[in-house]
Amino acid sequence: MSNSVTSATYIRHLSYGLRRKLSDFLDPQDRWKDVIVSIRKPSGDLRYSQHHVRRFEGLLAQGRSPTVELLNDWGTTNCTVGELVDILKSHKLLAAACVLIPGIISLILPSTSAVRTSLLFPNVPIKADNSSKSTNVNYSALSTRILEEREAPSPPGSSVQRPQIVLEDKEPVHTGGFSSFLYNELMKITGNFDDRPTSDGGSRLGEGGFGTVYRGLLNDTPVAVKKLNSMDDISLDELQVQFNQEIQTLKVLKHENLVDMVGFSCDGQHPCLVYAFMANGSLLDRLACKDDTPPLCWRQRCLIAEGTARGLEYLHCNHHIHRDVKSANILLDDQFVAKISDFGLTRASAKQTSTTMMTERIVGTRAYMAPEALRGEITPKSDVFSFGVVLLEILSGLPPADENREPQFLMEAHYDIDDEDEDLTLEDFVDKKMSDWELCQVESVYSLACNCLHERKIRRPVIKQVLSELKGVVKSISLDSQ
Ligand SMILES: Nc1ncnc2c1ncn2[C@@H]1O[C@H](COP(=O)(O)OP(=O)(O)OP(=O)(O)O)[C@@H](O)[C@H]1O
Ligand SMILES: [Mg+2]
Repeated sequence: MSNSVTSATYIRHLSYGLRRKLSDFLDPQDRWKDVIVSIRKPSGDLRYSQHHVRRFEGLLAQGRSPTVELLNDWGTTNCTVGELVDILKSHKLLAAACVLIPGIISLILPSTSAVRTSLLFPNVPIKADNSSKSTNVNYSALSTRILEEREAPSPPGSSVQRPQIVLEDKEPVHTGGFSSFLYNELMKITGNFDDRPTSDGGSRLGEGGFGTVYRGLLNDTPVAVKKLNSMDDISLDELQVQFNQEIQTLKVLKHENLVDMVGFSCDGQHPCLVYAFMANGSLLDRLACKDDTPPLCWRQRCLIAEGTARGLEYLHCNHHIHRDVKSANILLDDQFVAKISDFGLTRASAKQTSTTMMTERIVGTRAYMAPEALRGEITPKSDVFSFGVVLLEILSGLPPADENREPQFLMEAHYDIDDEDEDLTLEDFVDKKMSDWELCQVESVYSLACNCLHERKIRRPVIKQVLSELKGVVKSISLDSQ
């Protein structure tokens, strides 16, 4: 779709899908406000006042996207994609500009990095250009040490943001809080991306929709390296957008219950993201007792649920919808503190689920999707729905989908529990692998899960309410144990 978009395309001709994609970049952290204050009338005056800004802000409370509404409104004039791209570039919102015109990256990167771009993303047309346009590149989201080593210093007066370069020994380069690694270094610390599972002496921690995750040792500190692959129907262009989005997002969103990113690499065959290593893996694996790990007790499960709700509340307060909440994306550190992962890499999965492709991964993700999300509508309440499925997993220890089970999807289990004609009771449903549960606490969490799983999003609680309920349960566990 985006291939047919050029600078001359009128904004009003952009598809809804493309507008939504832009909103993925511009709704979080209110980046749309940078755009709105830069839009001018042909007379040169600002088109939108503070009064308009507040009106668009108000739409958020109704679950609507200010970006989409702004584009709808501005689109009533003869404004073009070229004007929007110029505004995006002036605010260094490069990833959003790439959504409109993926090839834009090659037009604004300087020549030396164009070589790198061609190596990394061969289908991106390369046009080396060192003109003034290049001064708007957000290097902090794209840089590598190789790039820095090769490039001449920026011209006087240039506004290019340069990462600090530390080229001593094997120390990584720090770029806006993140380190830029050489691909070769990451190869070294992961035993050449040893594909054997860590339990067999290899480095592989797991595999997802965007690539494979490896364990590595960085100066004796373990890290997780996600090596991105273009898979299924995700193009390299799109992968690059995901990559930039993950970096930009993780740079701004910091919370105890969100996974910490250490750095990235984009000078090699595959873009890589480097995260803090989560010693206890994913909630999915711990509930399944993968690799013979002991079952999580009820108290741990409630603390994990509460921590996840805290992380989600933080995301929602910052106008960010995760879109892929699932137990595989809830990681556990050495103290079993829940850390939500993958909030930049989830956009392509939203796209995939709207296709008829039925890979194992998509079926897996489908097991968490709210009815409206399946129809392509995404609101914070869809995250709440998915979290409801996670709560059922926590209660039952059962996987979210199992084709040899009736019902196949765990999200449907509550119909059987609530149906008096069915034999299944809540006590039967509770995971037999834990013993420290109290019925009243289990009932509270179960009823919360059912509320989250309401078909109609308006009837679901907001994440703040979910968190408050879970805090109550955790408090009652603490009181019990005193
Ligand atoms: N920071 C980390 N520390 C430890 N293990 C990790 C880390 N990140 C990922 N993993 C492991 O790697 C697995 C694969 O992660 P990945 O995010 O690629 O796939 P996924 O979560 O199953 O699916 P998706 O691509 O939809 O996120 C995880 O389930 C987890 O077991
Ligand atoms: Mg994941």
